[in-house]
Amino acid sequence: MPPCAALRTTGMRACRLASPGLTHRANMPVRRGAGGKLELGGVDLAALASDEAIGTPSYVYDLTAMMTEARALHDAWGGESHLVAYAVKANSAGPVVRALRETGCGADVVSGAELEVALACGVLPEQVLFSGVAKQDHELDLAIGAGARGIGAIQVESIEELARIAARARAVGRRAPISLRINPAVDLGTMGTHAHIATGHDDAKFGIPKGDLADAFAVLTSRPDLELVGLSAHVGSQFTSTKAYLEAARTLFEVTADVRSTRGAALRFVDSGGGFGVDYGDGCAVTPADFVREALALKESCGLGDLPLYVEPGRALVAAHGVLLATVVQHKLTPQGPVKDARQRWLMIDAGMNDLLRPALYQARHRVVDVLAAGTEAPVPWRVVGPVCESSDDFGVHPLGEHPPRLVALLDAGAYGYTMASRYNGRPLPAEVFVRDANVVALRGREASRVWAEDRCGLGGLT
Ligand code: LLP
Repeated sequence: MPPCAALRTTGMRACRLASPGLTHRANMPVRRGAGGKLELGGVDLAALASDEAIGTPSYVYDLTAMMTEARALHDAWGGESHLVAYAVKANSAGPVVRALRETGCGADVVSGAELEVALACGVLPEQVLFSGVAKQDHELDLAIGAGARGIGAIQVESIEELARIAARARAVGRRAPISLRINPAVDLGTMGTHAHIATGHDDAKFGIPKGDLADAFAVLTSRPDLELVGLSAHVGSQFTSTKAYLEAARTLFEVTADVRSTRGAALRFVDSGGGFGVDYGDGCAVTPADFVREALALKESCGLGDLPLYVEPGRALVAAHGVLLATVVQHKLTPQGPVKDARQRWLMIDAGMNDLLRPALYQARHRVVDVLAAGTEAPVPWRVVGPVCESSDDFGVHPLGEHPPRLVALLDAGAYGYTMASRYNGRPLPAEVFVRDANVVALRGREASRVWAEDRCGLGGLT
């Protein structure tokens, strides 16, 4: 990567944000700097977008703020032994995983490749948990063979998986540390999150149904290659209240207390999963630390005060501290409804559903703000859409100035943004920029469009 201006960018004055559609929050990750330009982590976002090594669409992340987020979560244990296993799927970039590891985080991974990222970023093998309903043999081998004793635990998602893991343990020549992921069958209708990101209900593919646990233990007793080290649950994502999380945790803790007393299992941890929600603009009544404090109290009341609590947050550590920058390609006005001369305002940007899939997949809303203007014009509604040939490539209606902006930022895009990006429609993967202590410390430019074209054309010959 040639040296670029962005790498020399230094901190700028932060000031209160005033922009249509953006309310001020105490920990607001973006700020208006000198001249009203938007900053993240003290870095001028417009300067990054105009840097030829970066351009748009580009993700920008504030590592310092992510670390602050992680430290606040660690503090919720008040010094008790614990593990924050960061769910790498939320944002698997090396600088992010390394920064969170620096604060003491482990990793929750769902593939052999994510496991490799975690280990290469210095996460201790014993601080890695491996979830997923269809782990392949080579992935299990990697997990069992890691470090001196394998990873922290392979989270078992079915009774059927036990025999497969035992076979791989024999092949590798080690006992496999496992935890049983329980599906606590929380009522989907009361979970309070999108059905696509709910996992702990009785029609989900995840976990071992509570009613099947006795059978799972029967299998375990005949498998000396497996070492039961924990019990876990993960019931869904983006919870903005602790209700469903605690309901699931209660089931998990009661089962765990029972397993310890009736089977004498020497467990190392109980893991109540991730799912701590963030404020995408509609509010979030609870902080990640609230989930932990309430879960700790419940664990204690279930007689498990001595057993370390593990959690697996992804989104809560990173979402708010990333933005997606996009250039406005053009705008368009079309007739709107029966009112004469009423016009719908469309804003066509160069970021699409291939860069940020969440709105198309979960009807998620990411606030769109003008990067350059301080919001002096009265806001009017703009329907912001991407270039992809799908009607669902639509980021919704956002209040922006009457004059169409030239550069916008989609907020709260630090989680499940780049990791879910694709090259659909032959569109290159976006750039990524990492800010720490108000300096750009790493970046990867946008992929060249010819990468995709050459890959497609290259199939079966180069002509
Ligand atoms: N642990 C397990 C086993 C998981 O499956 C997940 C997320 C997490 C932890 C972390 O959940 P979090 O704390 O981030 O809510 N793509 C969706 C979210 C899918 C979450 C999948 N599992 C989105 O963009 O909202």
